[in-house]
Amino acid sequence: MADLRINTIDDFDYQGKTVILRVDINSPLDPSTKQIVGENRINKSIPTLRALLDKGAKVAILAHQGDTLDYHNLIPLAEHAKRLSAKLGKPIRYIDDVAGPAAQAAIKALPPGEAVLLGNVRYLTEEVSTFEKAVKLTPEQMVDCYLVRQLAPLADYYVNDAFAAAHRNSPSMVGFAEVLPTAGGRQLVAEVQALHAIMENPQRPSVFVLGGLKISDAFGMIRQVLENGSADKILTGGVTGIIMSIAQGQSFGKQQEQFLKDRSLDVFVEPAREFMEKYKDRFVNPTDFAYERDGTRVECTLEELPVDDALYLDIGSQTIARYQAVIANAGTIFVNGPMGAYENPLFEQGTRAIWNAIATSPGYSVVGGGDSVNAATSLVEGAEAHFDYICTAGGAMVRFLSGVELPLIKALKKAYRKV
Ligand code: 3PG
Repeated sequence: MADLRINTIDDFDYQGKTVILRVDINSPLDPSTKQIVGENRINKSIPTLRALLDKGAKVAILAHQGDTLDYHNLIPLAEHAKRLSAKLGKPIRYIDDVAGPAAQAAIKALPPGEAVLLGNVRYLTEEVSTFEKAVKLTPEQMVDCYLVRQLAPLADYYVNDAFAAAHRNSPSMVGFAEVLPTAGGRQLVAEVQALHAIMENPQRPSVFVLGGLKISDAFGMIRQVLENGSADKILTGGVTGIIMSIAQGQSFGKQQEQFLKDRSLDVFVEPAREFMEKYKDRFVNPTDFAYERDGTRVECTLEELPVDDALYLDIGSQTIARYQAVIANAGTIFVNGPMGAYENPLFEQGTRAIWNAIATSPGYSVVGGGDSVNAATSLVEGAEAHFDYICTAGGAMVRFLSGVELPLIKALKKAYRKV
C-alpha cells in the first residue's frame, strides 16, 4: 500500500508457500469459565486468513491470549481454533506448542490452502511484556530469539494482521519482518486507514468523544488531537468529564474527591486546567451528572453540586441533549471511553444515548477501545452496520492517536523499503 508505505497481502504470490500469520484474537473471557465472550477480533481476522488460504498458502497462525498479568497469559487457544474453523467453514487444527518439534512438524505437514493455529505465543518468556520492558531487545536482535530461530526457516512470508498488539515490541510482532518478506493483513490496513482518516484528513467539524476512567489515555489523545488540529470539538464524559469540571473550580464533594485520590487521578487536574486555558473553545464538558440515592438515579446540575456526598456515575439529561446536537452536525466522530458506569442500569443512559446518537449521525464514525466497543455492541442495535469502523485495538489505538510510533508500524515500513 503505497500511501501507508507498507506491503499488503496482495503484493505476494502465496501458491504452495508457507506463511507465518500473526493475528490478535486476544478476546474477552468469562472470568470463571474462561470461555470467549466477545468475537470482534476473531471476526475481523477472518478476511486475511481466508484470502491467504484462497491464494493457496500454507498458514501457521501465531496469536496470544492475555490478561493484565503476565502469569495469566497461559491460556491455550483451542477454543479460538474452534471459533475460527466455524467462521471460516473449514477446520483449523490447534497444536498446543508454539515453536517446538510438534509445532514444526504440523507446519511442515500443511497442504496448500490449510492452516494450523499454534500455541499461545506467551507460553514463551521472550513474548511477555515484563521481558519486553526489562530486556529491551531491538527487532534486529530478535532474529536470535527462540521463536524466530525455530519458525522463520520454515516459512516464505510473514503477514501481520494484529494491529491491536502493534504497541508490543516482541519477536512474534516485529522479529520475523527482519528475515522474511513481510506484509500487513486486511484488518491491519483497514484499522490504520480508519485511524489515519480521523487524524490526518477528518471531515469537519471533527468531534472526539472521550470518557471512561483511563484518564492518561484520554489526555494523551486530547493533547495530540488539539495540537495537530484534528479535533474541532472534544466532548468529555466519565471521570474525564469530572476532572475537566474540577479543573474549572467545581467541587464534587468528599466521596468523589477521595475516589480520584485513591486512584491517583487527581494528578490530572493540573493538565486539565492547562488544556482549558489554551483550548477552552474546543471543549464541551458536562453540565449535569447522575448519582444514586436509595437505589434510584438522581440528576443534578453543576450549580447544585455537591448535593449529596455521592459518586457521580453518569452524565445527566441536559448534557446528553447538548452532546446529541454537536454529534448530529459532526463530519467525523471518534469515541473512546464510556460516559458513565454503563454496566449498571442506573447509569447506562448517558452512554446509550450518546452511542446511539453517534450511530445515527451522518458523520464518519469510529469506535475504539474494549469498553467502548462492548458498549457499542450491547447498547446499539445492529452496531456493526451503524458505525463506520469498530476498532479491534485498545492500547495500540490510544498510542497511535497520541502520536506514538508503534513498533509494528515501524517494522512494516522498514520491510516495505526492503522489497
Ligand atoms: C490488547 O488487548 O490490547 C492486545 O491484544 C495486546 O494485549 P496486551 O495488552 O496483553 O499486550
